[in-house]
Amino acid sequence: MQVLYYSADGDSAAWIPGLQAALPQAQVSLWEPGAAQADYAVVWKPSQQLLDEQSGLKAIFNTGAGVDALVQLKLPAGVPVVRLDDAGMSVQMAEYVCHAVIRHYREFAGYEADMASGKWSFRKPRPRADFPVGILGLGVLGERVARALAHFEFPVNGWSRSAKALDGVQCFAGANSLDAFLAASRVLVCLLPLTPDTRDIMNQAHLSRLRPGGYVINVARGAHLVDEDLLGLLDSGHLSGATLDVFRTEPLPAGHPFWGHPKITLTPHTSARTLRSESIAQIAGKIAALERGEPVAGLVDLQRGY
Ligand code: NAP
Ligand code: GLV
Repeated sequence: MQVLYYSADGDSAAWIPGLQAALPQAQVSLWEPGAAQADYAVVWKPSQQLLDEQSGLKAIFNTGAGVDALVQLKLPAGVPVVRLDDAGMSVQMAEYVCHAVIRHYREFAGYEADMASGKWSFRKPRPRADFPVGILGLGVLGERVARALAHFEFPVNGWSRSAKALDGVQCFAGANSLDAFLAASRVLVCLLPLTPDTRDIMNQAHLSRLRPGGYVINVARGAHLVDEDLLGLLDSGHLSGATLDVFRTEPLPAGHPFWGHPKITLTPHTSARTLRSESIAQIAGKIAALERGEPVAGLVDLQRGY
């Protein structure tokens, strides 16, 4: 069995020996133009050339949760695409989002600034009930984040395409319920896949529906957020701040108004990283299952785009 690895991030030195150790019966190699035909491709942001050349693939494994970069390419017909299914990401995402929500709610940035300037002062505790958190997307990551926030006793709302029932979460489903979901939320967390239906979803009209003093946390994709609309609503005071991990262009270009903005906290697309050993174990297990003719989790529905 031949397995090809390719990542636009150029981290093959560790992945190829790891995959090889997990798949001793296979020959694992780095994809290069003109490579021999393989059975499986393990990829992150591959080129169209790889997909065009590899006409005999039995499946394509994406080494991330989001497949937006992959599905915009012309994919070989009938070849299953398999995304990472948690593989250690959901706990990282829960840490990140809980940290951002709690930092905002408890005003820790203000305390840090006060203490740094030698000022000993208290802020009035704010009722938790005034900070309902709405999560766009209740999939592998959104559900874990919702459960973690509920553990801290925040009121939690969740929005998905299909109807869900989660303990401690007020669930909304479908486009018709988006306005009600937003109106019930003050902190908005985006954990949607990027598809034609979700691009630009955090725009002026939708963000204006959040409760006054709203706060935005984007940990999905930069193109979910209309940058100028966020900036306008921060200026007008309808939104009080944002924590952003993902951007339309990454790295965030020098001179972008998000850099140094007093109401925006930035991180460099690091909220939930692909963990190599967990991911290799998951992918190797799925290759073995496919070889036995068994179904695997994490199959991408190419019609939906996620
Ligand atoms: P997932 O399991 O596929 O969940 C996606 C959720 O979004 C599902 O609940 C789905 O609803 C909902 N959804 C999709 N389209 C919708 C629509 N049009 N209207 C309403 N709900 C919709 O994905 P995941 O594993 O949780 O990952 C989510 C995204 O996080 C990824 O696609 C990726 O872009 C991003 N991500 C970012 C990082 C980072 O480091 N910043 C790391 C990993 C992932 P249904 O349940 O009804 O299908
Ligand atoms: C990271 O952004 C991922 O989609 O896994």
